[in-house]
Amino acid sequence: MSKQEWIDIAVEALGKAYVPYSKFPVGACLVTKEGKTYQGINIENASYGLTNCAERTAIFKAVSEGEKAFSHLVVAGHTPEPISPCGACRQVMAEFCDPAMPVTLVGDNGVTKEMTVEELLPYTFTDKDL
Ligand code: THU
Repeated sequence: MSKQEWIDIAVEALGKAYVPYSKFPVGACLVTKEGKTYQGINIENASYGLTNCAERTAIFKAVSEGEKAFSHLVVAGHTPEPISPCGACRQVMAEFCDPAMPVTLVGDNGVTKEMTVEELLPYTFTDKDL
């Protein structure tokens, strides 16, 4: 699959986001090293703090299926600039993805920004710090 197809999967996920409170849908597409894709959406709750972000949904879906090796993540939002992942999701990315793994951030009108996991979360706290 091409990067554009991964972007399309993340953008398609926007329509499935469960966002009755924020009305701020986010979609994600996590790609394994074998090329399998996991789609993620943000899932909100009346108890707001229980919300799960799209990136973490995709990562947790994949890890719960036994996946541990990832090659790419796409995150999409209906934002004028490429969406900025929250700090919690950056930390979870750092747990399961290589520092150099590319992350494609997508906004409306096809705007994209390419970053790595390490660029999103420099001087990361990891298992090596324990
Ligand atoms: N959100 C995500 O899904 N990912 C992020 O990285 C940023 C925030 C969601 C959480 C909540 O449902 C909505 O966006 C507004 O914060």
